[in-house]
Formats: sequence, C-alpha cells, structure tokens
Amino acid sequence: MLNDLWYKNAIIYCLSVGTFLDANGDGVGDFQGLMRRLDYLQGLGVTTIWLMPFQPSPGRDNGYDISDYYNVDPKYGTLGDFAEFTHACGERGLRVIIDLVVNHTSDEHPWFKSARSDPGSKYRDWYVWSDRKPSKVDDGVVFPGVQKSTWTFDKHARRWYFHRFYEFQPDLDTANPYVHAELLKIMGFWIQLGVSGFRMDAVPFVIAAKGAKVRGHVEQYTMLRAFREFLQWREGNVIVLGEANVLPDTDFEYFGDAGERLPMMFNFQLNQNTFYTLATGDTKPLKKALLATKPRPATAQWGVFLRNHDELDLGRLTPEAREAVFAAFAPEPDMQLYGRGIRRRLAPMLSGDRRRLELAYSLMLTLPGTPVIRYGDEIGMGDDLRRPERESTRTPMQWSAEPHGGFTKHPKPPVPAISGGAYGFQRVNVANQRRDPDSFLNWTERVIRMRREMPEISWGDFEALRTSRNDVLALRYDWRNSSVLCVHNFGAKTCTVKFHSGCNGPGDERLINVLSDDHSQAGGDGRHTVVLEPYGYRWYRVGGLDYLLRRAEI
Ligand code: NOJ
Repeated sequence: MLNDLWYKNAIIYCLSVGTFLDANGDGVGDFQGLMRRLDYLQGLGVTTIWLMPFQPSPGRDNGYDISDYYNVDPKYGTLGDFAEFTHACGERGLRVIIDLVVNHTSDEHPWFKSARSDPGSKYRDWYVWSDRKPSKVDDGVVFPGVQKSTWTFDKHARRWYFHRFYEFQPDLDTANPYVHAELLKIMGFWIQLGVSGFRMDAVPFVIAAKGAKVRGHVEQYTMLRAFREFLQWREGNVIVLGEANVLPDTDFEYFGDAGERLPMMFNFQLNQNTFYTLATGDTKPLKKALLATKPRPATAQWGVFLRNHDELDLGRLTPEAREAVFAAFAPEPDMQLYGRGIRRRLAPMLSGDRRRLELAYSLMLTLPGTPVIRYGDEIGMGDDLRRPERESTRTPMQWSAEPHGGFTKHPKPPVPAISGGAYGFQRVNVANQRRDPDSFLNWTERVIRMRREMPEISWGDFEALRTSRNDVLALRYDWRNSSVLCVHNFGAKTCTVKFHSGCNGPGDERLINVLSDDHSQAGGDGRHTVVLEPYGYRWYRVGGLDYLLRRAEI
C-alpha cells in the first residue's frame, strides 16, 4: 500500500515547459522560465504540477515521440535545470508528476535505429515486427483521417513494424522482459530526480498483447501490478495516473480489486458526459456516469478534468449525444477532429460566458476525484484554429499585454501566442486579471482554496440527490461525520429547485453557503428550496456551526 495518499486531495495543474515561459529569449519555453512562475502556481493553490513530455524528441507529436528517456531536450534546459526545478517545487510544497510515454518510442530513438538496421541488434526484439504484411493494417488507427495504418513497411529491416499511433512512433514490445526492465529503470531514474509520479500515456495500449497474430484487444493487467510494486519498493509515495479511456466495467481491472494496480486514472466517462450536460442541460447521463464510476478501491482516485492537450474525445457518447455536443460547442467542421472530438479550448466553447465558465469549473472541482487543470484555463485562454490538428489548443501562456503575451522576448517564436480578438493576449492575460478582484483568475484561486478545504469530496462517499428538476445536479459528500453539498444549475433560466439533503442530524436542516452569505434553511417538510440564477451553483456545508463540533470529534 502507498504510505501517503497525497494524490487524493491534490489539485493538479498540467503544462508544457515549451509554452509556459521562455527565460533565455530563444522563443521556446524552458525550465528556467517555469521556475520563475512557481510562486504564481503556488499562489493559485495548485499542489501538483504535471509536466508534459520534455525529453529529447524530434517533436512530431508534441514530444510524445521520445528519442532519449534519460535526458532533457536541450531546447528546454538541462538535467541540472530539471533537478533545480524539482528542488524549487519541493521548497514550495509542490509535487511534480511527469508524462511516461513508453508504449512507443520515436523512430529516431537509437534503439529503433539499431533495431531496424541490424538483424542481430539486441534491440531488434524490443519492437513489434511482422515478416509479411499483416492482414488488417488499417485496423485500430487512433487518429483517423491523419494516421493511415497501424503497420508500416520498413525498407531497412525489410519487415513490417507495428505502431498504434503515427508511423514515426514504433510500438515497444512491452511484454519483452528486457523492455519491461528498461521501463522500470526509466521510472527509477526520474524518481531519483525528485518526481512524485507519472502520468502514464496510453495505458490500454501499453498493456495490450502486441503482434500480427494477436486478435482483438487483450490486456495484460498484471503488468500494472508489476509497475506499482517497483514504485513502492523505490519510493512509497510515487503514483501512476493512467490515461485509459475505458468503459466502467473494466475499471477494477485497471485499479486492481484491492487497489494494487493503478492508484489513479482519468475519468473519461465523467468528462464526456459533463460536456453533454453542459451542452443540453440534461443531467441524467451525467448521473449515470457518476454512478457507473462510483465503485473503486478505497485508495484509488479519479482524475477529473474538463479539457486537456488533446481533442475533447466524445467517442464514448451515443451518436445522438455526440451530435448534440458538436452542435453546441463545435458547429463548424474545422472545430471537430478525428470524427469524435473537438479541438477547442473551454472558454471559446462556452462563448466566453463567465457564468458558464464558472459553472463548468465549479462542477469539475466538485466532482468525485482530484481536479486536473490545464494551464491557461484559469484566465479563460482561447484557441487558434489555424494551427493543425490538436495544436490549436497548445499556444503559449498569456502572461501580460506585452509582445507575445510576455511569454518570450524573441521577435518570432515558433509557436505564436494568440493575438488580437476576444482571446488575444492583449485582452486575456495574467497581469490584467491579477489586478482585477473580480477576474476569472481570482475567482479560480478562491474556489481552489475552498475546494482544498473540502476533503469530503476527495475522501468521502457521494450521493446524487433527487431534485425537483432534471437540469439541476445536487451531490452530497460524506466523510468522517461531516458533509458538503454542491448544487449546479445547467439551465439558462433562473429556477427554483427543491431537494432533501438526506442528513437528519441535529442542526442538519441548515446548509451553510461557503462562498457567500446565502444560506439555506429546510422547510417544514425537511426539503430545501433554493432559487438558482441561470447557470448558478452553490457549495454548502451541511449543519452550520455544528459541523465544527462534529469535526472536532474525529
Ligand atoms: C496520448 C497523448 O495524450 C497524445 O497527445 C499522444 O498523441 C498519444 N497518447 C500518443 O503518445
């Protein structure tokens, strides 16, 4: 078992070093720049930084094509800078998790170069080959419309190699014991440099049986336990946050019945249904997703999120539900991607409507799990649809109204900041919002602080309450004799909602609003009647002052 469950009540903030802050003026963000912004992140209230890949890479998939697992890409700094960075985080009580991209390497990795050019190479079997053309080379492509196949003929090896993603990302044969040992070594290396965990890329593919003869998708779940055991032996607090967009009926396979496999996974079910509910106001599918993903081992935790660096993947919704989300948030074909997703940032999807942005973030912060925030969302950054594929949402952080949003002093950075219009750095930036007490940034900081004071959400059990309206979601969390209750109105109109808190202890008829003075007293029938403004939300503690006394008992 892990000896510290820190990830249960964390606030994770994800960023790319290359687009955060450029300190040396070469146009690319770097560790020196990031270190200058650690106080900003600490002030925002985040507790954990998740770094996207920063290792040497040809950069053909935003760094998810690594050519050296034991180094820092020189454009971001050096290993020395990395060690300084984890030290500086530690000084501030911030933890660091990093991407672990081991399903595949870059085709420029020395292992693959050796494997493809030399039949006697010890790396030959580290990859997945076929002498003959496999029967279904187009099956299982991840990026339809851009990626053509999952097998490509290599003229050097004169064989076919398997690649779940793009052809420049050959899959490692993760079942090969030498590859397995190397994966552990990679984890051990970064642990020595101070990381507290790994966001494991593409977990279902990492653990899949691979090869031309394999039929269907066969997962080797025991691998997850082996990773976990190794981490525990090395350092009892290190976690793996799995990227696994899987159906709820396999959640326990990934977590392990007793929580002995992945300590954390992203909750893609909740994510997709959250967007459906934001689009339509219908809370039924969201409640269904909440209940379907409710069972999990006591030590396991969900990572809950709104947007990430990829497309908003709606592939698990019904076709009708997906169309409803497209119609609301991505009506133009150019806003959609791979036939299943949306390549926009949150703020433009919600037309920059502050009420809806608050609703979305308030919901995300109060869903069961640990919130994962994407850099720039705290100021409502936009996207640049002129950039290809998923690059649209990967523009530089907007710090100020200075040229390039204060991101770099370079006159022509390779990835320009968004300029002009409603989301340009001239209007949307940290400096402006810092000075404005009513800004989205200051709102976000305040709700993050409040969320951290609500461990009930992270640790407790929840119940979706019956309310008098389908467009209002009310969740109550109970933990150690203490309860909080969060209500969200997805409708565009003011509404009156009635519900019973489900708590019947002394004083429990009172709900204390933790964000304003607007408290609620249950009526004679024991029910609360709350008037919610359009897209309004409330965070309550159940039981007024009594709560303090009860907490003192624990
Ligand atoms: C998932 C990552 O989130 C995505 O950005 C990447 O393209 C694929 N895995 C391949 O590594």
